[in-house]
Amino acid sequence: MDRPEIILAPGPTPIPPEVLLAQAKPLVYHRGPAFGRLTRQVVKQLKQLFRTGSGEVIVMTSSGTGGLESAIQNCFSPGDEVFVPLAGFFSERWKQLAEAYGLTAHTLDEPWGTRLDPRKVATALAQHPGVKAILLTQSETSTGVIQPIEELARVGREADVLVIVDVVSSLGAVPFAFDDWGIDVAVGGSQKALSASPGIAFVALSERALDAAETARNPRYYFDWRIYRRFAALPDTENPWTPAISVMEGLAAALELYFQDGVDVALQRHQVLSRAVKEGAKALGLDLFGEGLDDNWTVTAIRAPEAADADAICEAIRRDHGCVLAPGQGPLKGSVFRIGHFGYFSELDIVRGLAALEMTLEKLGHPVKRGAAVAAAETVFMETR
Ligand SMILES: Cc1ncc(COP(=O)(O)O)c(C=O)c1O
Repeated sequence: MDRPEIILAPGPTPIPPEVLLAQAKPLVYHRGPAFGRLTRQVVKQLKQLFRTGSGEVIVMTSSGTGGLESAIQNCFSPGDEVFVPLAGFFSERWKQLAEAYGLTAHTLDEPWGTRLDPRKVATALAQHPGVKAILLTQSETSTGVIQPIEELARVGREADVLVIVDVVSSLGAVPFAFDDWGIDVAVGGSQKALSASPGIAFVALSERALDAAETARNPRYYFDWRIYRRFAALPDTENPWTPAISVMEGLAAALELYFQDGVDVALQRHQVLSRAVKEGAKALGLDLFGEGLDDNWTVTAIRAPEAADADAICEAIRRDHGCVLAPGQGPLKGSVFRIGHFGYFSELDIVRGLAALEMTLEKLGHPVKRGAAVAAAETVFMETR
């Protein structure tokens, strides 16, 4: 029998029934009062999530990467210089995107799994006085590391460069404060901590970012923020192009659910689930990967044991239990696997995944005390009640 997969990956995350039902509503025409109201409501709640009063939020039909690309298109001109501290797959994506548009990307090359040291970043940035922006990634999904964005943003402000942050896998999962931290551009996606379907990217923009967009000369059309803002200002807010209307309905429902409990409850849930996964993995004799583990609430990267390759673990657990874990990326392929624990996850989802992991590891020849990971997770849950 075909059953839904049990997703324990760092996005797309499992979607609550309320969101699925909202997506199944009859289509609302995208030019008119109903869609205008829907968009305004979504933007209002996203602003709360970004924690911005003065910033503008634009909602675009795209996965997260389109939102990142929009930042490169709208803030820069060919030949501009940017600074990218590298410590994983998604910071490298920033570099690739910048170079695709003819920018010069200066880097600080740190090993994957590093939690960036703001002083080191400041020193490296100071060597490139022509830099116009620093491109950061809050949750480095490939390693599980949450980067110290507040401090890194301060470094950027002190150097008087734009601070542009990928929050695709962190917005709503860990603390973030657009205004208070002095962020200029932050890019999120619908399919991560909010547990809506993939297909919508949202960007929060400061006054400085909007000014940069007025003069930037990089080629842009579909993601041109100026066109989006013109349509957003219509009496019934519109999207310039035909938007993903049903995904937008789902996103509105997801935000509604998220704010029923509020941001603090969601953040605490992610912290507790993260601890449970980490304690569970350790109880199986596994080593965790990446620095700053206590702050890494989005995804846990786990070193594969000697007995089994990480890809083999991911394949076996999916085949035998229908459970989807994320394999290692780049240089971590084969040696690390990842468990996502942000979004619409409950304690029992984690217990179920850890039970499947125990059985899978035992089958692959890693010595396991059955129930050890589950017991460790339960202990975390009982202690935090
Ligand atoms: C930190 C980060 N940035 C960007 C992306 C890319 O997002 P998308 O696949 O929605 O384009 C992801 C996806 O996993 C991510 O985790």
